[in-house]
Amino acid sequence: MTGPWYVFYSCVGVNFVTTLFTMLAIQVKDYGNADQLYLAPFPTPAPEPWEIRVQVHATALNRADILQREGHYPPPEGASPILGLEIAGVVEAVGSEVTRWEIGDAVFGLLPGGGYAEYAVMHEDMAMPLPEGWEFTKAAAVPEVFLTAFQALRWVGNLRKDETVLLHAGASGVGTAAIQLAKKMGATVLVTASSGKHALCLDLGADHAIDYRKGPFLEKVEELTEGKGVNLIVDPVGGDYFDQNIKVLQRDGRLVMLAVMAGGKTSASIGPIVFKRLQILGTTLRSRTPDYQIRLTREFVAFAYDDLVSQAICPVVDEVYHWHDVAKAHRYMEANLSAGKVILQIKE
Ligand SMILES: NC(=O)c1ccc[n+]([C@@H]2O[C@H](COP(=O)([O-])OP(=O)(O)OC[C@H]3O[C@@H](n4cnc5c(N)ncnc54)[C@H](OP(=O)(O)O)[C@@H]3O)[C@@H](O)[C@H]2O)c1
Repeated sequence: MTGPWYVFYSCVGVNFVTTLFTMLAIQVKDYGNADQLYLAPFPTPAPEPWEIRVQVHATALNRADILQREGHYPPPEGASPILGLEIAGVVEAVGSEVTRWEIGDAVFGLLPGGGYAEYAVMHEDMAMPLPEGWEFTKAAAVPEVFLTAFQALRWVGNLRKDETVLLHAGASGVGTAAIQLAKKMGATVLVTASSGKHALCLDLGADHAIDYRKGPFLEKVEELTEGKGVNLIVDPVGGDYFDQNIKVLQRDGRLVMLAVMAGGKTSASIGPIVFKRLQILGTTLRSRTPDYQIRLTREFVAFAYDDLVSQAICPVVDEVYHWHDVAKAHRYMEANLSAGKVILQIKE
């Protein structure tokens, strides 16, 4: 490098200039498998007046990242095209209207995108304070799955004390959060999961764990509930679970669908939906308005933050990968090997 840029860089320092204009971020070369992920410079986002810019220390994987990488899940309008729905890190710049945070504060929270990067911006009201003594890698495991589980159980599913809830994929990120929140809500919790993950679900408070690979979960649920069935089901699996779900729901039961990991088609009979007055509800978190997500974050903090601090409720961190190993981390999640969250460490 020669000329005026050489003089400029030598005076102010290369790191300063890089931070000001560009950062490193994981990007997708062409839609496809995990080999498409690569690390390269990307413009550093500038905070809007009500936003903070966070130096990201850790982010976490979500199935949505895999779908986005494959080209099946475009980011919502206005969101960063970079993958990553949650972060933990340190406030490094604040917009002119920000009142809650100062530079240097440690925070974590949900994003509509942009987490797989050195810097990310978020609305100041989406950020939560990092509990004292917490690693960033632990805090990055909280936002997406706990807010999804809280939304599904409380806002959408209307779970009440003494009801029985069935959580499918109980050892997933969402499942491990939902077990703990549902217990705090006073419910009896049944989960389905592969048997190697049952001990984790039971340790987190689940009352019963069912191995869905050993036959239809329907019979086991009927046996465990003495034929009564359940009040609420939270299901990210879909496919042929749908028919069984309809059968095991009690009168006035609710089915909250989060995803269709086993497929989106069913030939279930619909009569029982009418006769048992069932409610079939679908929900997503990412497509919700910022206002909705802020209210959800606030209500979640009021409900569970103290329990997170006291460790009565704990995020489950399964594996921490250096972000240079992002492809390995994606392959691990895609192979259904994880139980709880898979984290990417960006800054030591
Ligand atoms: N709607 C929303 O707002 C929202 C928000 C967050 C996540 N989600 C969705 O919820 C799902 C779970 O997310 P997550 O991050 O918690 O996932 P995760 O941690 O990656 O866990 C997924 C687990 O589900 C089980 N599973 C996978 N395919 C299955 C199948 N065909 N039948 C039965 N079980 C299967 C596997 O565990 P086993 O070993 O037990 O089989 C797998 O490890 C994803 O599809 C995600 O996209 C939706």
